[in-house]
Amino acid sequence: MRQKDSDDLVRVGPGTTMGHLMRQYWLPAAMSSELKADREPMRLALLGEKLIAFRDSAGRVGVMDNKCPHRCASLFLGRNEENGIRCVYHGWKFDVDGNCVDMPSVPPERDFKHLVHAKAYKAVERNGLVWVYMGDRKSAPPLPQIEATLLPDSEVTIQFVQRECNWLQALEGDIDTCHFGFLHGGSINADMLPDEALLRYTLTNRAPDYNVADTDAGTMYAAYRDGAPGETYWRFANFMLPFWTQTPQGKFATHLHNRAWVPMDDEHTMFVSLRWKNEPSFVTDDRNGNLMPGFGRNFDYIPNSTDWYGRWRLKGRPENDWLIDREAQMRGGNYTGIAGIHQQDQAVTESMGPITDHLFEHLGPSDMMIMRTRRRLLAVARALAAKGTVPPGVDNPEIMYRVRSGDFMTEAGLDWRAAYDRQMEAATRPLQQAAE
Ligand code: FES
Ligand SMILES: [Fe+2]
Repeated sequence: MRQKDSDDLVRVGPGTTMGHLMRQYWLPAAMSSELKADREPMRLALLGEKLIAFRDSAGRVGVMDNKCPHRCASLFLGRNEENGIRCVYHGWKFDVDGNCVDMPSVPPERDFKHLVHAKAYKAVERNGLVWVYMGDRKSAPPLPQIEATLLPDSEVTIQFVQRECNWLQALEGDIDTCHFGFLHGGSINADMLPDEALLRYTLTNRAPDYNVADTDAGTMYAAYRDGAPGETYWRFANFMLPFWTQTPQGKFATHLHNRAWVPMDDEHTMFVSLRWKNEPSFVTDDRNGNLMPGFGRNFDYIPNSTDWYGRWRLKGRPENDWLIDREAQMRGGNYTGIAGIHQQDQAVTESMGPITDHLFEHLGPSDMMIMRTRRRLLAVARALAAKGTVPPGVDNPEIMYRVRSGDFMTEAGLDWRAAYDRQMEAATRPLQQAAE
């Protein structure tokens, strides 16, 4: 990889190649529950911009530049009152659309509030999430139709976790299936698993073969290896533009979930996970019903603070070596000595440093999906920059709905796309079924 490719992939601020691409899409930026009407505003870092989010008296969400357009005092200090945020420096007040609605520091005859606009971004809410559009279009494109984001609040579990590294290296953990047999399961033996757990094949063969392809929505891979005699064990996963993934960690038929890696800036990322509540939980227990070493699913947070990077941080952090337990690592069972699958992913991707050194890497056959995804991102972002080509899914969000991932078994010798199509037909699609 050339330095220019790396820079174009990782930089997300205004005017950057990737930043411009991401600004074409709606971004899941916060949980609706983080903002309360007429209560304190929230600092929100998004795509390298420092923003303030608040909920007005009528319940509408405002997302605007941190800097007051008068003389740049922080609107974080503002008073959230009577359908707007009032800057505490000279009392100018702005509604959620950024209109200046009051300018009490200026004599009425010289009032020029109609000429002043705070820099505000469009924000809407759907199913428990606040979505922000940071692009240039006067009327924003349609909201995404990513399957899990369409589930009603009551049907979906939403989780946020901050990761202290660049968005791309964080995301790439989700499309890198072969790490499962090491980072998470390196000391787990297939015999420990319940008989029905297909996951066993990731442990009996830790070096699968791959098929990788571009899709309408992004990229897809199928990792495959021999299953039971005469059968093939498949693990499908997806990347969806601009920062969404679906992992193979679940039964394809019911694995209704989506994961976003939303860049806060070049060195901080908010992981946004949406998961269908009715999906059977992923195997974490051994055949005796005991939690397998290193497999905890609970997230241990430190309390949120009001800092730009104070939301949804885990206890295991770079400063404390992600709470690695060397005794547990040496004892066996837990390969890393770090408790929790997400925490293990967090540790390795943050351990690369805030922005990984792409020129130092040695990518191999197991990294085909990562290479393909980087190329796809660069191609789409550069086509937008050079020719204004609208990226996939912006005006046709329905293409994002037809994407699923997960694992399953078929007879040996089946073509990978045929295997996928057959699974898609059999998959549980609660929204479609509700619509029919
Ligand atoms: S700086 Fe905000 S009103 Fe003056
Ligand atoms: Fe992982």
